[in-house]
Amino acid sequence: MPFKSSTADIPQTGNVPRHVAIIMDGNGRWAKQRLLPRVAGHRRGVEAVRATVRACIERGVEYLTLFAFSSENWRRPAEEVSILMDLFLRALEQEVAKLHDNSIRFKVVGELGRFPARIREHVAAAEALTARNARLTLTIAANYGGRQDIAQAAQRYFADHPEAVDAPVIAPDVLTPYLAMSYAPEPDLFIRTGGEQRISNFLLWQLAYTELYFTDLLWPDFDAAALDLAFESYRNRERRFGRTSEQVRAAAAQDA
Ligand code: IPE
Ligand code: IPE
Ligand code: MG
Repeated sequence: MPFKSSTADIPQTGNVPRHVAIIMDGNGRWAKQRLLPRVAGHRRGVEAVRATVRACIERGVEYLTLFAFSSENWRRPAEEVSILMDLFLRALEQEVAKLHDNSIRFKVVGELGRFPARIREHVAAAEALTARNARLTLTIAANYGGRQDIAQAAQRYFADHPEAVDAPVIAPDVLTPYLAMSYAPEPDLFIRTGGEQRISNFLLWQLAYTELYFTDLLWPDFDAAALDLAFESYRNRERRFGRTSEQVRAAAAQDA
């Protein structure tokens, strides 16, 4: 069963966000500050991923979604793109068994068609191996674009419902089961490192009511303590989903 949109119902949100989505930005600047090649930053970025996955498990996060490569990142120099592909492949080779040992379900969203065949094979094998794990769902967004996701969802919806092509109105929620991440609830908390305050074509649809958190920390410096700061900020937010503060507090009192 795909998840319903959070704008339809008020989702239960405890102290710990159930779904955290992160734009891991700043690897290049981290390296530049140290007069190192950009690849050194990407390498350290992989270590920050490890630390973040561990910290999320310890804190009871159920879904962690990491933006690793955007559909626009092909615009980078060919050498950097190829290094990123190598790093992704190596991480798949080295980490998947560990993910499985830790009961992590591994998923990749994005258009993998342009990726080297070895990566596609490893991704398919990793997804199959970990499909029944339930502790944390780790999604890597690779060659992912939010707009492409929405356009593809519409295309798949109409392929399934040819009669709807002439329908006068399309309810937005009919598309949600067709989005790449229909297996997950919408993110509760979005984090972007690296100081930039933009979405960069990440999960456009799903971020409609997500709490946004930006930090100047560069991704290779992100760790459990940084995650806790983000969670602390999250805990102090009031998620209203269009309602008034009074309504939200009355509903919370009723639940308690
Ligand atoms: C994020 O770090 C990693 C990817 C986009 C693959 P960047 O490589 O964008 O680092 P900056 O933004 O140049 O510092
Ligand atoms: C966003 O980072 C994508 C990833 C982290 C994979 P970018 O560094 O590519 O974003 P822009 O280009 O600065 O918006
Ligand atoms: Mg960047």
